[in-house]
Amino acid sequence: MKKPVKVAVTGAAGQIGYALLFRIAAGDMLGPDQPVDLHLLEITPALGALEGVTMELNDCAFPLLNKIVQTDDPNVAFKDCDYALLVGAMPRKQGMERKDLLSANGGIFGPQGKAINDHASRDVKVLVVGNPANTNALIAQQNAPDLDPKCFTAMVRLDHNRAMSQLAEKTGAHNTDIKNVIIWGNHSATQYPDIHHATVKGKDAKPQVDEAWYTDTFIPDVQQRGAAIIKARGASSAASAASAAIDHMRSWALGTPEGEWVSMGIPSDGSYGIEPGVIYGYPCTCKDGKYEIVQGLEINEFSRGKMDATDAELREERAAVEHLFA
Ligand code: NAD
Ligand code: LMR
Repeated sequence: MKKPVKVAVTGAAGQIGYALLFRIAAGDMLGPDQPVDLHLLEITPALGALEGVTMELNDCAFPLLNKIVQTDDPNVAFKDCDYALLVGAMPRKQGMERKDLLSANGGIFGPQGKAINDHASRDVKVLVVGNPANTNALIAQQNAPDLDPKCFTAMVRLDHNRAMSQLAEKTGAHNTDIKNVIIWGNHSATQYPDIHHATVKGKDAKPQVDEAWYTDTFIPDVQQRGAAIIKARGASSAASAASAAIDHMRSWALGTPEGEWVSMGIPSDGSYGIEPGVIYGYPCTCKDGKYEIVQGLEINEFSRGKMDATDAELREERAAVEHLFA
């Protein structure tokens, strides 16, 4: 058995937290041979509920769960942590766009970025789930000047999984037959779900679906799936969001299969003509705990326009929060 690693989760008593913690403790994120210490952060009024979640975690008697720390102090939560899942933030309600949450949630991520900077492992892998996830990740990163900016990522994996599932349904295939969809850009309604490089059962996906379905059904449905769930469920997605967070961290930590990529919101290095610095969804391969952008994909005019539109939104969001940077 390996030495335990420390996994910090914020918003641990919330609805995503309730779907996430049990799967981390069961080994779904880091593998069946990796014990974990869970560092659970909540705001003070939610510590009672957090105690209840902790009681349930203990009652599962998970073989891989080594220790639980409950706290309302980010400096304690992020102490020596190897992984940090920043979930704690307000979810949107019906009729809101995710960026409407910037003023409510942006303020959370500066202090947490600073606490990560001051206390986490120098190799920490941070995933921001709380919305608007890309720009919150940028705020956290900008408050952590001593860490490699690449430590900070945002979740577009839920959109990636949604795209796979919708393409599978349309083509009568199974999710496991779908490879290499891409979510470019922001986890918002401007995201660009791209199937130009995807395959279904090893064959190019694009010729297997008609253009009108791609442009008028698939793209808007993936872009608007979060809103559709809020409308149907009366609350934002939780179990699927937790599952995507597990997938994102597992790919990053344990690697992606040969010839396959996943979508991750990561600091742009200017690849594909995107504004450097913004946290942008890119196709990535992962190996030895590091991610790399898949280079050299051909981008047609249609894709270029959509990739630039979501880049423009991220630049606008960045301009709106620059006062929160250290
Ligand atoms: P929730 O309201 O059920 O839970 C949020 C929890 O965070 C609450 O328990 C709250 O007390 C806690 N919290 C608030 N401020 C905190 C702080 N400063 N430190 C620590 N904890 C804090 O919400 P939820 O449904 O679990 O959603 C959480 C966030 O995830 C929302 O912003 C939601 O929009 C977002 N989300 C993102 C994706 C994605 O794909 N990126 C998907 C689904 C949801
Ligand atoms: C989602 O995509 O389901 C989440 O980001 C929640 C939301 O606000 O849509």
